[in-house]
Amino acid sequence: SDSYSLLILPGDGIGPEVMAEVVKVIDWFGANRGMSFDIRHGLVGGAAYDAHGTPLTDETMAEAQAVDAVLLGAVGGPKYDVLDFSVKPERGLLRLRKELDLYANLRPAQCFDALADFSSLKREVVAGLDILIVRELTSGVYFGEPRGIHADGNNPDNEGGRVGINTQRYTSGEIRRVARSAFELARRRNNKVCSMEKANVMESGILWREEVQWVHDNEYPDVDLTHMYADNGAMQLVRNPRQFDVIVTDNLFGDLLSDAAAMLTGSLGMLPSASLGAPMANGRPKAMYEPVHGSAPDIAGQGKANPIACILSFAMALRYSFDEGQAASDLERAVEKVLADGVRTADLMGPDGGTPVSTAEMGDRIVAALSQA
Ligand code: NAD
Ligand code: IPM
Ligand code: MN
Repeated sequence: SDSYSLLILPGDGIGPEVMAEVVKVIDWFGANRGMSFDIRHGLVGGAAYDAHGTPLTDETMAEAQAVDAVLLGAVGGPKYDVLDFSVKPERGLLRLRKELDLYANLRPAQCFDALADFSSLKREVVAGLDILIVRELTSGVYFGEPRGIHADGNNPDNEGGRVGINTQRYTSGEIRRVARSAFELARRRNNKVCSMEKANVMESGILWREEVQWVHDNEYPDVDLTHMYADNGAMQLVRNPRQFDVIVTDNLFGDLLSDAAAMLTGSLGMLPSASLGAPMANGRPKAMYEPVHGSAPDIAGQGKANPIACILSFAMALRYSFDEGQAASDLERAVEKVLADGVRTADLMGPDGGTPVSTAEMGDRIVAALSQA
């Protein structure tokens, strides 16, 4: 069978802890499904800064360009808060997304039945939930120019004398390509897309709405498209999340809405993501797979982290980079089975408590469930 090349970047905080469990899963697929993986390891974020004085070296960037898929744990932490902005751990992650041109960030939020009582919302609201947020990832206010912190001239009305600037900027081409990703994905799901922006207050939102509509009318008229202001969207996500199928939105709104969607599933430790670029000559996209959560400094180093978000991110790699859809489904079913068996990390303790398992035990149980399938 094929050989797949992977660059593993565990990063900081709980990143290395959850990635160790993914490696167990990768090893299992290598040993039991005849897949062969060519795995390299690298540093990103604070870990790279500590070793090299930069959150991402040019060598690691070049390796990321060369492999079939990058797996990223998480970056950042209080230790690095004092660093100059240009070398903060988050800059390493943003450089990877930008230089790999990973414009479509797929953030599925699925509520496993075993966890329907663990959401902060009622079971009736979240049971059976299966939505997909498609977040634009390489533009918008994260990257727009001008940006910076400047002295505000001699403005006597500005106490403190400084101004902080970021720019929300979208081109029609950037909007059209991520809209196409959303429509394509919707066709393989329930054929519904809801686009979210703030066209009522932002010109970039007006352009967003017009271009998404244009792609719909010209290329995907069969898909059911609606538009919603993003603030209403945030409310609707917690009021009745199952009204949605695919949500497409910009970089910043997508960041916020996906963290909110995480709690519908029971824990931020459950949400995987795939960051995809345009299909290459071989038909596969450039890709990075990363949990939605961060480095969780409050629980790092204690074996408490939930590795499921990172493990399900690898399932997305199997599906989107390696065309191993059956293996991806098997892995998702193994996670579902372990949860149904009542195995829980600390973030999934319900109001009645119980005894949580460690990060490593959760990984072992998922691997064991794979073997039983
Ligand atoms: P966070 O996602 O790291 O943590 C938020 C809360 O969720 C914490 O209470 C944490 O303990 C909990 N949590 C997160 N993941 C968990 C898991 N797998 N299992 C159990 N509990 C989990 O967000 P934050 O605290 O705002 O940010 C911490 C650092 O992470 C910051 O430096 C931030 O910039 C960075 N960050 C990185 C990424 C990334 O690398 N993709 C994403 C978000 C935040
Ligand atoms: C995420 C994170 C990142 C983002 C940070 C760490 C750069 O919050 O992946 O959701 O804002 O995109
Ligand atoms: Mn985020």
